[in-house]
Amino acid sequence: MRPFQYGCVVSGEHFCPRAELEKSLQEYALSGQNLVIQGPRRMGKTSLVRHALGRMRGMRMVYIDLYFIKTTVDFCSRVMKGVAQAYEELSFLRKALQFASRLRPTLSIDPSGTTTISVDSRAALEPDSVSSVMEALAKLVSEGRTCVVFDEFQDILKLENASRVLAEMRSTIQFQEQVAYFFTGSVRNEMTHIFEDLNSPFYKSALPFLVDEIDPKEFTKFIKKRFEVGERTISTKTIEQILAFADGVPGDVQEFCEALWTTTEVAEEITPTCFRAALELIFSREIRGYEATMEHLTPAQTKVLRALSENGQVLLTSTSFTDRLGLAPSTVKRVVNRLFADHVIFLRKGEYCFSNPFFKAWLQFNNP
Ligand SMILES: Nc1ncnc2c1ncn2[C@@H]1O[C@H](COP(=O)(O)OP(=O)(O)OP(=O)(O)O)[C@@H](O)[C@H]1O
Ligand SMILES: [Mg+2]
Repeated sequence: MRPFQYGCVVSGEHFCPRAELEKSLQEYALSGQNLVIQGPRRMGKTSLVRHALGRMRGMRMVYIDLYFIKTTVDFCSRVMKGVAQAYEELSFLRKALQFASRLRPTLSIDPSGTTTISVDSRAALEPDSVSSVMEALAKLVSEGRTCVVFDEFQDILKLENASRVLAEMRSTIQFQEQVAYFFTGSVRNEMTHIFEDLNSPFYKSALPFLVDEIDPKEFTKFIKKRFEVGERTISTKTIEQILAFADGVPGDVQEFCEALWTTTEVAEEITPTCFRAALELIFSREIRGYEATMEHLTPAQTKVLRALSENGQVLLTSTSFTDRLGLAPSTVKRVVNRLFADHVIFLRKGEYCFSNPFFKAWLQFNNP
């Protein structure tokens, strides 16, 4: 039994309560308010939405994961998969099949007992398949209280005909005032493009909702308890250092705690002297990724990245910084843009940070 979980959606005892956010999400779901839920990676968006909606009596959640969709066939399949998961009753599933009949759907139950609806890939290739699936979804969700969640919504932009798909989605959604649609995503630029570009069909169509760090007091209590469950002790001060190291990003905090727990013994007190062994364990698990990133960097990119790892929060384009690096400000700007586009760094509260704090620590420890 591991007391810490990361890299997955967390629930139950692994979910640290976020009372305020949960309450407002539930209120928005009840009032049919569409939301665009944004936040950095691993900040807990998916877990929060699923937890908050999952606890509401009489509220059905249709959860549609658009992670890495490539084609409209994928899109139609994911929507129907979400529908099948949300509606266990056979009468509803029959209706789903009927409403989406143009996609020639079939119902199947896999060996684990999970019900799935698959669509015919040729039918899903037809130009009006997105409208068909959206209309089917709209008809289903208008019966009873429902909230539809499109997770990783920015991946819609990966579709060749993204603007048409967005327009078709929007034209169905806009007539459904009673139903809340939550669009979650983490790649800020792309989400901004969908919801803030004047020409986008989704322009200002949903209220922005930010998911940032968990309240440190609540999170500290949670972490202490999890270590207790795992038969370790830890002081509030040490937890503060863990939170600072991981910039309060829950996924990174849990990863660090899991490594601390794994590299210590029953009844041991976790102190900062335990950090190094835990980090070494994480490095050993992730080193291939770090090396692959480093291999692809130009010398200027390496220089900027190393400087960022040492300086932490610095205005990367300030002349004192660029002078020290011996690089022209325009070069630094270009490098920063590239590192940002490759998701090695990201902008948080106006400052560039490492997307992965462990990669940053690894660079610090491995400074030639
Ligand atoms: N409320 C929470 N309590 C404790 N840990 C959490 C909580 N929310 C998230 N986490 C931690 O963060 C990890 C990522 O959570 P989740 O997948 O919900 O985040 P996300 O923002 O949706 O990430 P992504 O941007 O990758 O989709 C979880 O595996 C868990 O370790
Ligand atoms: Mg997520």
